[in-house]
Amino acid sequence: MKQDLIVILDLGSTENTVIAREIRDLGVYSEIHPHDITAEELKAFDNVKGIILNGGENRVVDGQAVEIRPEIYDLGYPMISVDYPQSKCETKFSVLPGKEELKKFLFEDCKAQTNWNMKNFIEDQVALIRQQVGDKKVLLALSGGVDSSVVAAMLIKAIGQQLVCVHVNHGLMRQNESESVVKVFRDELHANLIYVDASGRFLGKLENVADPEQKRKIIGGEFIRVFEEEARKLEGINFLGQGTIYPDIIESGTKTAKMVKSHHNVGGLPEDLKFELVEPLKQLFKDEVRACGVELGLPHDMVYRQPFPGPGLGVRCLGAITRDRLEAVRKSDAILREEFAKAGLDKKVWQYFTVVPDFKSVGMKNNARVFEYMVIIRAINTIDAMTASIEKVDWDVLEKITDRILAEVENVNRVCYDMSPKPPATIEFE
Ligand code: XMP
Repeated sequence: MKQDLIVILDLGSTENTVIAREIRDLGVYSEIHPHDITAEELKAFDNVKGIILNGGENRVVDGQAVEIRPEIYDLGYPMISVDYPQSKCETKFSVLPGKEELKKFLFEDCKAQTNWNMKNFIEDQVALIRQQVGDKKVLLALSGGVDSSVVAAMLIKAIGQQLVCVHVNHGLMRQNESESVVKVFRDELHANLIYVDASGRFLGKLENVADPEQKRKIIGGEFIRVFEEEARKLEGINFLGQGTIYPDIIESGTKTAKMVKSHHNVGGLPEDLKFELVEPLKQLFKDEVRACGVELGLPHDMVYRQPFPGPGLGVRCLGAITRDRLEAVRKSDAILREEFAKAGLDKKVWQYFTVVPDFKSVGMKNNARVFEYMVIIRAINTIDAMTASIEKVDWDVLEKITDRILAEVENVNRVCYDMSPKPPATIEFE
């Protein structure tokens, strides 16, 4: 390991990640570990510079106080505690230490080096992946999303052709999205990439299915089946690469913290297809994943793309999906993205997209009555996607987008702007 490590012991506080973030922002690597980690396990890291015990009200679980193993105090590492009045540390904080106090602990008490950077992280991970995988093969579902793309780039750097990427085009991708995955990974990074065009199959399964939850289930289930079929055709695969990131692990719950949501990327593979996991990003926060992708040479657009739901345009082509409306969503989305980029809004707005409802309205084209679909534009800002406010898009930009959609997208005669915050609306329509 190249980096000095500050260990935060998880005694159930919800603020562990806040401290970990602050320490990393100061250039020192920090990880959260379970409260009952043993002295041997800590020593085995060989790069620990200090320990923070982060208590908090959740330290008492089912009436029982959660304690660290007493021998940890004897290891001789500099230690502080936060909101943990029963702790044996000399320095105790009742609330989270401020930046200066944290700096004093890191640099004066622990004598930590500011050597946490992506170059070192990648070097460490490449060595760890090679050690774990040896000469075996790793399979990866490469959706083209930020996390799977960065994992792919990392694995290509570590093991090259021993990585087999499978990209499933479910027919619900944005314009040129699958093409760009093939271009970047097969043509430029020379990945061993299997491209599966399953669009006909997905759209067939989705025919006449209008219920949003049913649509999601079909898309998710079919994705696993296609991936499984490809996996069965391959031989000698022992590992599955996954784009698990730090928040996924934290949100899945720990021994002391409650589960927020279950985490799974390619869950649901059958029992006889059990692989050992390779998860090189599992210690990174989302912005660190992006920085890692840039350091690995991925295109800026791929690394800084806005969030895109797993079921893709399938949940933006409202109700039962038809090819003409799906095409209208795809084209209008491409126009929206192009015009937002021109106006500099792509760097400002958190998420923006179009949807096409499954009803028509009356209009007029070339002096004749038409009965066609509408495009709804949605542009929102949020911090954590739990609540969201709308972006007040400049009127001229909206007019330009409207003109282009009406001129360039077939079967559309009306464009609307969604003014609803979350709640009560959700970000997506389905
Ligand atoms: P909602 O619609 O719940 O969306 O307000 C919150 C955020 O989650 C994204 N989203 C999804 N992401 N699979 C995903 O990977 C999904 O099924 C899914 N549904 C919603 C949505 O785009 C927004 O950023």
